[in-house]
Amino acid sequence: MLLKELSSLASPLSSGQVDKLKQLTAELNAVQLAWVSGYLAATSEQGVAGLPQAYVGSQAGAEQTITILYGSQTGNGRGIANELAEKAQAQGYAVNLVSMGDYKTRQLKQESLLLLVVSTHGEGEAPDDAIELHKFLSSKRAPKLDNLNYSVLALGDSSYEFFCQTGKDFEARLNALGAKSIAPLVECDVDYQAQAEQWQADVLEAVKPLVQSAGASVVSIASSQISSANYTKQKPYTAELLVSQKLTGRDSDRDIRHVEIELGESGIQYQAGDALGVWFTNSQALVAELLEVLALDGGESVAVGSDNLSLREALINKKELTQLYPGLVTGWAELSQNAELLAISADKALTREYVNNNQVADLVRQYPAKVTAEQFVALLRGITPRLYSIASSQAEVESEVHLTVALVEEARDGVTRFGGASQFLATAAEGQEVQVYVEPNNHFRLPENPETPVIMVGPGTGVAPFRSFMQERSAQGAQGNTWLFFGNPHFEQDFLYQTEWQQYLQSGELSRIDLAFSRDQEHKVYVQHKIAEQGEALWQWLESGAHFYICGDAERMAKDVHQALLDVVVKYGNKTQEQAAEYVEALRAAKRYQKDVY
Ligand SMILES: Cc1cc2nc3c(=O)[nH]c(=O)nc-3n(C[C@H](O)[C@H](O)[C@H](O)COP(=O)(O)OP(=O)(O)OC[C@H]3O[C@@H](n4cnc5c(N)ncnc54)[C@H](O)[C@@H]3O)c2cc1C
Ligand SMILES: Cc1cc2nc3c(=O)[nH]c(=O)nc-3n(C[C@H](O)[C@H](O)[C@H](O)COP(=O)(O)O)c2cc1C
Repeated sequence: MLLKELSSLASPLSSGQVDKLKQLTAELNAVQLAWVSGYLAATSEQGVAGLPQAYVGSQAGAEQTITILYGSQTGNGRGIANELAEKAQAQGYAVNLVSMGDYKTRQLKQESLLLLVVSTHGEGEAPDDAIELHKFLSSKRAPKLDNLNYSVLALGDSSYEFFCQTGKDFEARLNALGAKSIAPLVECDVDYQAQAEQWQADVLEAVKPLVQSAGASVVSIASSQISSANYTKQKPYTAELLVSQKLTGRDSDRDIRHVEIELGESGIQYQAGDALGVWFTNSQALVAELLEVLALDGGESVAVGSDNLSLREALINKKELTQLYPGLVTGWAELSQNAELLAISADKALTREYVNNNQVADLVRQYPAKVTAEQFVALLRGITPRLYSIASSQAEVESEVHLTVALVEEARDGVTRFGGASQFLATAAEGQEVQVYVEPNNHFRLPENPETPVIMVGPGTGVAPFRSFMQERSAQGAQGNTWLFFGNPHFEQDFLYQTEWQQYLQSGELSRIDLAFSRDQEHKVYVQHKIAEQGEALWQWLESGAHFYICGDAERMAKDVHQALLDVVVKYGNKTQEQAAEYVEALRAAKRYQKDVY
């Protein structure tokens, strides 16, 4: 495309950027233009580790470009979209890969081919970067899209009530707006890799008659941008665990760990706000219990993908044992022919409840069935890594990464069950190998301006990223005010990183701390109550430009804090409920209200 024809609609640039580019290039002669073009190409090829989107190959013209959009909260969708872009490029297509959060909705009308990858979060809600586009497509402003070909890959987890809801919404809206599906909606569960690869192959086949291959020159443009992270979920780094130290007191009813991991010479970089993906192995004791209940020996040979392993090895290293999923309950019901389990599996709500409150070992104990090693392994899903908000800043800890991990532990009927990854991290010995990768989270970032005040609400393990924020701000010598809301059951037992917060208070780097120790008095006090108590000051902070962050429990805490924030805006901002909702929505859209909840 010639520069004089360039418009913000047909490029990734804003109209302001297009104007500046035109202005600059108008002043350059041919030699200078060639030099600048080489300089920009080299700069773009260096890429930035962990950046979520690459913008590539758009000069081939809109009709020849495949636009790949992703809406991803925890990186899975971004990874699939990156892979698809790489594959499309390898086949010679010009690709425009972009996060839905960075996509200009007015560009939709120009698209002829859109491939979307989108997950679902909250309770059937769009991930942060997909919220605007999701809203836009459902609004009256959404244009007719008769010329658009599309396909959607939806990511989700079948143990949630609204499975893959956002992907389903996109499919329905695009369809209603007249767009034509080139490959059916694919709904992926937690173990999505095989289905995602199939979808990638299917859509690339389906685009063949629709898009011209642009030739090798375009293909080479940004392949290095796409695979910018050296270590990924699929290719993790083998790090060394340095410390797994209990933070909670001896009499606490919870076991929360401070974990330190050494990233050695990996060169891995992370930013405050990112998460660490951790692969784990299942406990030997759990595997021994399962083998005993199933009357299997463990030495049986089983196939996992293209590998042949012993059953014991497969159960320890490859298969998910601590998280159940609905398909396993159904499969086991058929094998056992147990009337009670058949009734549970026939009812979606009962199945969800069963899945959330039991593990594989409970299922096989409660509903005995005779199975072979192969049958059993075929029913189980592959292990998936867990994410942990990073609790350190590299400005302070350099090649280390710190986490704050709550051991998931539940005793029922005399048996204690543990969470797979949290038990692995809580019991790991010093020096143990642990496979990790950084999952960037661009939706949870400190303000660019270190003078900007920040309000951090992080009860329990939700405090983790705020330790990282404070280390980062301290290293920067940032002058902006900082305010932490922290809570847990008991002051004496559960005040995580107490001495560090006290030191930050003393040095003035932490301006305020409000604490909610829920069980230290008769009535329960949580962070949302502290927010309500401090509403007037909080409103003033917001009005002076503060960014507001929530991290931790998604199910209750984040909702209660959101409500408390709305109440503060109503009360101290003199607004109606509706105006308060708009105010908070505007904060979110301006990236001043960010959540990292799970
Ligand atoms: C972006 C992100 C950031 C996160 N950051 C942190 C963090 O900083 N610190 C942290 O500790 N966790 C964090 N988590 C949660 C973490 O990823 C795991 O989900 C958690 O450690 C449980 O994993 P597990 O393998 O131990 O348990 P699983 O094997 O996944 O679960 C075992 C069983 O326990 C149930 N279960 C799972 N979690 C809980 C729970 N909290 N309470 C009761 N029952 C439960 C499950 O339903 C299942 O039946 C984060 C999650 C996300 C998505
Ligand atoms: C806090 C939280 C809430 C979730 N809610 C849903 C849901 O309502 N429905 C669903 O199908 N999946 C849900 N999921 C599962 C994610 O969609 C799934 O893990 C997906 O692979 C994430 O993709 P992403 O990393 O691209 O965001 C949820 C996951 C988390 C962590």
